Amino acid sequence: EHRERDKLIEAHELTAKLYNYLLKNTTHGQPALEYLRSRGVTDKQIDQFMIGYAPPQWDTLVRFLEKKQFDPEQMEKGGLFIAKGDGSGYLDRFRDRIMFPIWSREGKVIAFAGRTLGDSQPKYLNSPETVLFNKSGILYNFHQSKTLMRKNRRVVLFEGYMDVIKSWSAGVHNGVASMGTSLTEEHATILQRHADEAIICYDGDNAGQAAVLKTIPLLERAGLKVQVAMLPKGMDPDEYITANGKHLFMKEIIEHPVSVTKFKLLYARKNHILLEEEGRKNYSLEAVGIIARLESPTEREFYLKQLSREVDISLESLKQDCFKHWQQLQKMKPQRDNNDNSWNNGRNEN
Ligand code: UTP
Ligand code: MN
Ligand code: MN
Ligand code: MN
Ligand code: MN
Repeated sequence: EHRERDKLIEAHELTAKLYNYLLKNTTHGQPALEYLRSRGVTDKQIDQFMIGYAPPQWDTLVRFLEKKQFDPEQMEKGGLFIAKGDGSGYLDRFRDRIMFPIWSREGKVIAFAGRTLGDSQPKYLNSPETVLFNKSGILYNFHQSKTLMRKNRRVVLFEGYMDVIKSWSAGVHNGVASMGTSLTEEHATILQRHADEAIICYDGDNAGQAAVLKTIPLLERAGLKVQVAMLPKGMDPDEYITANGKHLFMKEIIEHPVSVTKFKLLYARKNHILLEEEGRKNYSLEAVGIIARLESPTEREFYLKQLSREVDISLESLKQDCFKHWQQLQKMKPQRDNNDNSWNNGRNEN
């Protein structure tokens, strides 16, 4: 069992090196190399992240690993080969794709993601779940980011490979990717062991922003303090860096995350037209519900004041509604901080 795992890791390590070599040194790899360069990926990044290219032939990897005496059946189970339908042998899983190795937390290559150079689907083909690769416990680039993560107790969470790679060169050396949009409880637990704070920097499209909303409570339940680094509408970190440069990315996005409450308020506001009465009213009530979740009376007042200005409703009325929400929440909570009397000060009793 141990030996099998070691063998499979060895195969993955060799495969990553092969793909990296093919990308850099062959004519087949040339279009892939040009594609990467057109996206602003440098030679340095290609080496640091061991980016590679899987050639279009059916059996490049099969022949390479068989020559080195790896057991093809085991390579198939490990996700590198695909068994032919007629049982007559094996094919490479990844063909004509740009290859991103995925590392274990200890820094061993345990899986791959292969990106198409064109528009064929899926955009990224990933290794299946194997004895080595358990998706819900693996975060892309964790092995390289854990040093800084532990040092400043902070992690930056991205959606994708290119986001991590491009932001690394912008100076984010504690960035990991959830490889898609669903972070698991296991991911959150792992992060919590190394960091106290998380900055979510997901794509600025609807899917990304909806994923932020889902990810916040997961991280918070694991005990992390969460902030959100927001991107302009529709942009992802990689696109932002290409369009605006590394410097602005650090200064405007990474160094200016918003609080979870602020994010939720902005997110809620998008669904309402504030110029219309109904929209203004509904947004106000939704916003008050969000603010009511804050433990600190100072924070509640801070956001209520902002809201009051934004929707032009008196602070008093907002406070009263907020208090009702807060009472509801207290009823739902396990008996814990029922002696919180922070509402009594300045509360308008009628
Ligand atoms: P995105 O669709 O945002 O892709 O998915 P991206 O990272 O911006 O990719 P580029 O810039 O076009 O190359 C975010 C992440 O979701 C996972 C990948 O990890 C991707 O980086 N994903 C996406 C898949 O696993 N498969 C897919 O087909 C698409
Ligand atoms: Mn902690
Ligand atoms: Mn996305
Ligand atoms: Mn993206
Ligand atoms: Mn992208």
